[in-house]
Amino acid sequence: MGGHRDISAADRFHVPVLVREAIEYLVADRRGVYVDATLGGGGHTRAILDALDAGGRVIGIDMDPDAIAAARIKLGDDQRWVPVQARFSHIKEVVKESGYKEIAGVLADFGVSSYQIDHPERGFSYMADGPLDMRMNPNAGAPASELLQKLDEAELASIFHRYGEERMARKIARAIVTKRKSRPIQRTRELAEIVESVVSGKHAVKSLARIFQALRIAVNEELQEIETFLNAAFQVLKPGGRLVVISYHSLEDRLVKRFFREKARGCICPPEVLKCTCGHQPEVQILTKKVVRASENEIQNNPRARSAKLRAFEKV
Ligand SMILES: C[S@@+](CC[C@H](N)C(=O)[O-])C[C@H]1O[C@@H](n2cnc3c(N)ncnc32)[C@H](O)[C@@H]1O
Repeated sequence: MGGHRDISAADRFHVPVLVREAIEYLVADRRGVYVDATLGGGGHTRAILDALDAGGRVIGIDMDPDAIAAARIKLGDDQRWVPVQARFSHIKEVVKESGYKEIAGVLADFGVSSYQIDHPERGFSYMADGPLDMRMNPNAGAPASELLQKLDEAELASIFHRYGEERMARKIARAIVTKRKSRPIQRTRELAEIVESVVSGKHAVKSLARIFQALRIAVNEELQEIETFLNAAFQVLKPGGRLVVISYHSLEDRLVKRFFREKARGCICPPEVLKCTCGHQPEVQILTKKVVRASENEIQNNPRARSAKLRAFEKV
């Protein structure tokens, strides 16, 4: 994959978000082994490597072969990192197969990269025409066009409602089912036109963003991936190890917030018990009492930073 694409411009691949903050929370041991669970163009990995000394190591995971290729170019022959093409829900297996046990920190920067959005042939964008693919790993799983073909109206509406929080979910699902009777919907432009036929005027752009987001989440099983990842990442961390997570929309952040709260909880006695008898201790200490957001200055230079929320904990 990716041979014909412009992945040589690794610096344009993606501008990383909240870099300084992520490193501050992540790196407590300059000789530790770290996992960048969302390697992308290698922007965050570059910054982690810069913060480590000669003994430090980074395992960079991404399911997109183009991301691995771009990161290889960006990070050159630095011997302290290794790329692994995998789903981040498999972080435990990746760490084990890499031969490491004690992980000092895990970073995850969820969502799509600018590269994925900017390449119409990947099918993530409603702004340019391309095949309706949306797979972060184009060599595995079913593309978005297949979901649009095989799911029934209620299932499509449920995806648009749950993953896109789209109010016109049912109407849009119905329009898709009507349209596909004449021929399969295979291009991003065709899907965009269906959405625009249901939602007109100034609301159309927001609906387009929500529908494309919803489909992308379904195609890549993003929320299931995040849930499995959070639990597995906690397990691979050594005591004192850090988890730093950057999320971009409320569905992602809700999962992260809930997981953090659960792990930070002390007593788990039922609410009617007056005196604690469980003796349960918090498993993590939350380092970001308030969620960390990008500065105005960063947002000016990188609009993706506007919706970014960073949370971090240390394993007890
Ligand atoms: C926002 S980008 C990361 C950018 C990166 N931090 C950088 O500095 O360039 C998210 C990356 O995570 C990858 N990704 C998303 N979900 C994944 C999953 N479940 N498993 C593995 N990689 C995933 C995407 O392919 C994408 O390259």
